[in-house]
Amino acid sequence: MLTLGIESSCDETSAAVVADGRVVLSDIIASSLDFHKAYGGVVPEIASRKHVEVIDSVIERALKEAGAKPEDIDQIGVTRGPGLIGALLVGTSAAKALAYVWDKPLIPVHHLEGHISANYLQSPELEPPFTCLVVSGGHSHIVRVDGYGKFRILGRTRDDAAGEAFDKVARALGLGYPGGPVIDRTAAEGDRSRIRFPETYFPDSLDFSFSGIKTAVLNYLNNSRARGEDVNVPDVCAAFQFAVVNTLSTNLVAAAKVTGDNKIALAGGVAANSALRAAVHEKAAAAGLEVFCPRPVLCTDNGAMIASAAFYAAGNGRFAGSDMNAVANWSLEAL
Ligand code: KG4
Ligand code: ZN
Repeated sequence: MLTLGIESSCDETSAAVVADGRVVLSDIIASSLDFHKAYGGVVPEIASRKHVEVIDSVIERALKEAGAKPEDIDQIGVTRGPGLIGALLVGTSAAKALAYVWDKPLIPVHHLEGHISANYLQSPELEPPFTCLVVSGGHSHIVRVDGYGKFRILGRTRDDAAGEAFDKVARALGLGYPGGPVIDRTAAEGDRSRIRFPETYFPDSLDFSFSGIKTAVLNYLNNSRARGEDVNVPDVCAAFQFAVVNTLSTNLVAAAKVTGDNKIALAGGVAANSALRAAVHEKAAAAGLEVFCPRPVLCTDNGAMIASAAFYAAGNGRFAGSDMNAVANWSLEAL
């Protein structure tokens, strides 16, 4: 069963062909990142225009690399939301057009369901149920994966997403956009113990909050500059990253105690973070939990994860017609 997956919710235009929901035959990713850098974040209008420019060739390359012809494709999955509406519309329009012309079933996929499904591509043996930390530029959720395509949110951020915190702190440090990868690299040269930033936990809750630590970093920078002191950027990165990663990994392991699962997983762009991966492995080993984590290229936005999620959604009978619309704000629990 070959699924074509199409992703265009933010700044990556991606198409992939996946066999049986598990085997990546191709995964073409075109990013418009360079066009957003000057603005310090993704500019929705630029993202939409770049999607329009490249989507046809990205899909063509995905088929070619997989050695598949349109008639070999069994179904088409596409990110319906959440995301930037103009960006989503490009992917959903392309998917609807191909489903119509090729006469294939169309499957609407939730972007975070896609991120979670990247674990099925990485780990052929992984099956639900498991407890998953989904951390991206727009979301920070702890999700119970009850079954394929069946999700319950156990915890969520009350303000900024984890990736958003990385991006804002990197911006304040003049490190550019996106912040996650550069903070990850810079932190490796720093000493986290020289500065202490606050971690936020809520009693009887698995929720997150990252606006406090963001403000604490900004205050630290402003105070240092006011006193005429040099800021040690690697130390700030290391201390900030440690606090965020400690919060994320602590709540994930606490969530597994609540669900009783012995399998935990990571998903989303921030799951590419080396310190997060290390901290989760360390805490999981102490708690006797098995960890699943996609390789970094499958953590950030890609079409293969959408194809995998679509395969399992189709198994649940989730299909759409040509009247399907993109939804900028779509809840994972509404599936
Ligand atoms: O999942 P994703 O590619 O797009 C969204 O759905 O948002 O996540 C992008 C986010 C950005 O905020 C980026 O800074 C963050 O993931 N990110 C990282 C790393 N790589 C990407 N954050 C921390 N460490 C990384 N290595
Ligand atoms: Zn994403």
